[in-house]
Amino acid sequence: MSVKKSNKKNKLQLVKGMKDILPDEQNYWDMVRAKVKNIARSYGFARIDTPIVESTGLFKRGVGEDTDVVSKEMYSFVTEGGDKLSLRPENTAGVVRSYIEHGMLNLPQPVKLYYMGPFFRHDNPQAGRYRQFWQFGFEVIGESEAVIDAQLIAISFYVLKDLGLDAEIHINSVGDNNCRPQYLKVLKKYYQDRKDDLCHDCVERLAKNPLRILDCKNKKCQSLSEEAPQMVDHLCEACKNHFMAVLEYLDELDVKYNLNPRIVRGLDYYTRTAWEIFLPSNEEGKLNALGGGGRYDDLVETLGGRPTPAVGFAIGIERVLAKLQENKITPTPAPDFDIYVAQLGVEARKKALKLFEELRQDGLQVTENMSKKGLKDQLDIADKRGTKYTLILGQKEISDGTVLIRDMENGVQEIVDYNKIKNEIRKRLEHKVMKNSKLKKIS
Ligand code: HAM
Repeated sequence: MSVKKSNKKNKLQLVKGMKDILPDEQNYWDMVRAKVKNIARSYGFARIDTPIVESTGLFKRGVGEDTDVVSKEMYSFVTEGGDKLSLRPENTAGVVRSYIEHGMLNLPQPVKLYYMGPFFRHDNPQAGRYRQFWQFGFEVIGESEAVIDAQLIAISFYVLKDLGLDAEIHINSVGDNNCRPQYLKVLKKYYQDRKDDLCHDCVERLAKNPLRILDCKNKKCQSLSEEAPQMVDHLCEACKNHFMAVLEYLDELDVKYNLNPRIVRGLDYYTRTAWEIFLPSNEEGKLNALGGGGRYDDLVETLGGRPTPAVGFAIGIERVLAKLQENKITPTPAPDFDIYVAQLGVEARKKALKLFEELRQDGLQVTENMSKKGLKDQLDIADKRGTKYTLILGQKEISDGTVLIRDMENGVQEIVDYNKIKNEIRKRLEHKVMKNSKLKKIS
């Protein structure tokens, strides 16, 4: 028993809440990355990569010390030199830090940036919730016009649509420093009068951030929130006009949205527009948030820059992939190879190793498996990889200075001089392409 126990203890395994991305899944990841890059290019976003480790103060100041993400979920540590650092739980604060630090406010505004990378939150792992997860995100810094909010909401919708997912946008305005304090007073009073019906967490929220009670998942709190005063009814004139303009642009773009007074977001930097992106779940009545975003007009100043409006969003890649798999959406397979290099015997393997590299460097789509010894195995692999020709090198070919070319379509094999193989294979490949395109035209 004790032996078993110690074995278990010594077994090295995946850390709780973390996930390996295995080779089989990589084509899904490639598909998402390609779509994100593509849409970013169309809309004029430049890529930014900021470090995974930032100073803890950045998130405390930027995201908010009282938010769950910062107060409960952050991986923080102190280095031997005494620096207080954290693994980034999100990227808006990091991107804004970089924007300020690199003087991007002197560039033509707005600055449009996008990113993709891993993030860390020490939350309770469950379906769709990991401790290391990936996000892609888009940020526009230096523009207050509502058209940009609408465009970003549209991008968050289109990127999922391009992947084959029909998302729902839920949108709200959380006001600004002008109108929100007054609304918070009204909201606090509302919940204060019903305090006995609130869950334990919400009683705490009532003191620190009553807005967050609106998105509590507890049934009792939710039913109280249905009747709660709404931010949209307490917006100042400027915020109201901004919100109306965002909705008008969305109407113009024909992007559907649900007005949802419960969208308040879990991070402190938001002002005005806030939205979340949902996909209906298989479980009835349950919606899964794939992403979220909003305007954060005060963040640049909070982090030490001059007042600069901004807006952005991020989407969780694991959640997107889960939905793609649930909806049986598969990535397009990688293109087939043209040539397989097969080898039989020690001498042939040496020569095949060289031939493979020469063909690859020559720009040909060539593949191999040097650890296989038998011809049948190698022809099977060549077949699976969709190759048009297999080049076979055996003992006889080595002594004759030749190569055997096998046409994988009909099995016909021909002997070719080793030194002429590159030209010969190119000629045959071109011929095959021409023949196939003619056949396509006829049919
Ligand atoms: P967020 O709503 O905290 O926003 O995260 C965005 C998305 O990241 C979520 O909707 C979810 O898909 C994914 N996500 C968050 N936590 C986890 C987790 N533990 N496991 C798996 N996926 C997760 C932000 O992070 C803001 N920075 C978005 C933003 C950009 N706002 C303005 N600009």
